[in-house]
Amino acid sequence: MDIRRKIFYFLSPDLRYLVRRIYYWPSDLLSSLKPKKNRIQPPKGMIYTGSGDFEKTGQQFKEIFITHCGLLPDHHVLDVGSGIGRIAIPLTEYFTKEGRYEGFDIVKTGVDWCKKNITSSYPNFRFTHIDLKNDLYNLTTDQKAQDFIFPYADHSFDLVILTSVFTHMMPEDMENYLAQVSRVLKPGGRCIMTLFILNEINTAKMKTNGGLIFNFDFGHYSQLDKDVKEANIAFEEEYIFHLLEKNKLRMKHIEYGYWSGREKQSCIDFQDIVIVIKD
Ligand SMILES: C[S@@+](CC[C@H](N)C(=O)[O-])C[C@H]1O[C@@H](n2cnc3c(N)ncnc32)[C@H](O)[C@@H]1O
Repeated sequence: MDIRRKIFYFLSPDLRYLVRRIYYWPSDLLSSLKPKKNRIQPPKGMIYTGSGDFEKTGQQFKEIFITHCGLLPDHHVLDVGSGIGRIAIPLTEYFTKEGRYEGFDIVKTGVDWCKKNITSSYPNFRFTHIDLKNDLYNLTTDQKAQDFIFPYADHSFDLVILTSVFTHMMPEDMENYLAQVSRVLKPGGRCIMTLFILNEINTAKMKTNGGLIFNFDFGHYSQLDKDVKEANIAFEEEYIFHLLEKNKLRMKHIEYGYWSGREKQSCIDFQDIVIVIKD
């Protein structure tokens, strides 16, 4: 694992956030002095959810939701692990007032920013903070994701979104979340999730590509870092398929990403994308 990543994982979530704020402070200050463009975007120093082009990636996912998940402007959507609005912001341009967006996350600063900057203009976009423990993101509680019941009615969503969330959750937590996803989806509703999937091809490529290598093998899942277990997690494909079937989530589409060393040009995203339908 590269040394910068190792140092990053070594820092506490609060310290990591502070370093980021300081690092981007000059460029965020400059941006705040420029005339405001008419768009919602968090300062770079607050984007704790990973690297990459925040705006472009959000737009790309919006297109995938429309083309691959049949998302319509009046649909009801649940964004699990809503972060700092990367998925919500582009949906504000697409949804009508009849559309409903619910997002929840375990990091309060992200949820607070979204409430202040998104819900204030789009009241049909709601964000909820849920205090759950995660080695990478939240050490302030011992509440476990494996026990958490999503605070939404059965069969209430057309689409559930989990972008880069199961990449940071332990198997027992993901098992509960998939059962919850199945419960809150309408029959015929869809779920899109991105993950790191270990199958024969990905595993073989991963070992030689010099990128992410999930070296700590626990059978049905592997960790990138030995100590910070939720830093990044990859799951065996058979295990994922078994959980989907168990929760009546039928596979519609699988699109492997380039994280493992597949050719970037032929992939849609860095992570593997799975789209399922609730039977
Ligand atoms: C890499 S970020 C992705 C954020 C967002 N989905 C996006 O695509 O921009 C992972 C997010 O998952 C959240 N998260 C981790 N464990 C969670 C859990 N058990 N329930 C809800 N969110 C969780 C983190 O707080 C973080 O915001």
